Amino acid sequence: MGCKGSKVQILPFRPIQKSRVSGFFNVCIILSTNSNRECGVAMSANNPDQIYAQQREVIERFSFDQQVVSVFPDMIRRSVPGYATIVEMTGVLAARYAKPNTNLYDLGCSLGASSLAMAKLVQQDGCRIVSVDNSAAMIDQATALISQSTTATPIELHLADVLGFPLTNASVAVMNFTLQFIAAEKRDALVTEIAQSLAPGGIFVLSEKIRFEDDAEDAIQQSMHHAFKFNNGYSQLEISQKRTALENVLIPETIAEHRQRLINAGFQKVHVWFHCFNFMSLVAFR
Ligand SMILES: C[S@@+](CC[C@H](N)C(=O)[O-])C[C@H]1O[C@@H](n2cnc3c(N)ncnc32)[C@H](O)[C@@H]1O
Repeated sequence: MGCKGSKVQILPFRPIQKSRVSGFFNVCIILSTNSNRECGVAMSANNPDQIYAQQREVIERFSFDQQVVSVFPDMIRRSVPGYATIVEMTGVLAARYAKPNTNLYDLGCSLGASSLAMAKLVQQDGCRIVSVDNSAAMIDQATALISQSTTATPIELHLADVLGFPLTNASVAVMNFTLQFIAAEKRDALVTEIAQSLAPGGIFVLSEKIRFEDDAEDAIQQSMHHAFKFNNGYSQLEISQKRTALENVLIPETIAEHRQRLINAGFQKVHVWFHCFNFMSLVAFR
């Protein structure tokens, strides 16, 4: 599974360290990484997403299981407008706002794309990236990908629920397309906890699929997103079946709802820095 020219280095490596976090067993895998991210991600990205290509009699609720993990880089690239830009700019923002000797959280890290983008650019001393996901299949694959890389800033992978995960001494927190999967009634408390973990001047990068207050605009923005997916090779059947699978699983909110929650949680300023169709990314300043 080696890549030509890649340097495989896992230092220090604690294979499986089980600890209890808020009632859940988690697996904490501490890896030191180098920046050969493109190699690992590119290999996974070679698996095309055809999960919804065939007509299904029953469409089950979407989940981040092994089947999704095996095609995830291709799925997210072809489904989320601006995904590559958002991941890359997460690294840029982290490098701009990280403070020495603090934690940088990637909550809902999936295969670690945003973690690696941060690890590649953050130069401040004593930082560590703490990456959390509650899908065992994701964390297994993220471990394999990240272990092929080496960067100055270490990445810790945790198999755990972000709800109740201890957040401390942070200067950067990132939730790229994950809050939308958290139960609506639990979002306020989670965002408040994130705000309280951040030092003054720290940032929260939040990227989400959004909905629009105005139904007519919402329909137009959704149709433009579907055009994006269609032009990326998804059939109307795939788009429709995936949409059914995500119903009541991915629950989008308006930008105004996000902004209000962030202000209520104690963030001083909220700025949208990326917006394309019904997807956006914002940065909130503590
Ligand atoms: C769309 S993916 C995130 C993509 C990722 N941030 C990236 O930039 O590539 C959503 C991820 O959130 C994770 N997730 C959903 N709910 C979670 C929870 N309560 N705790 C931890 N992870 C969660 C899923 O397992 C999935 O890997």
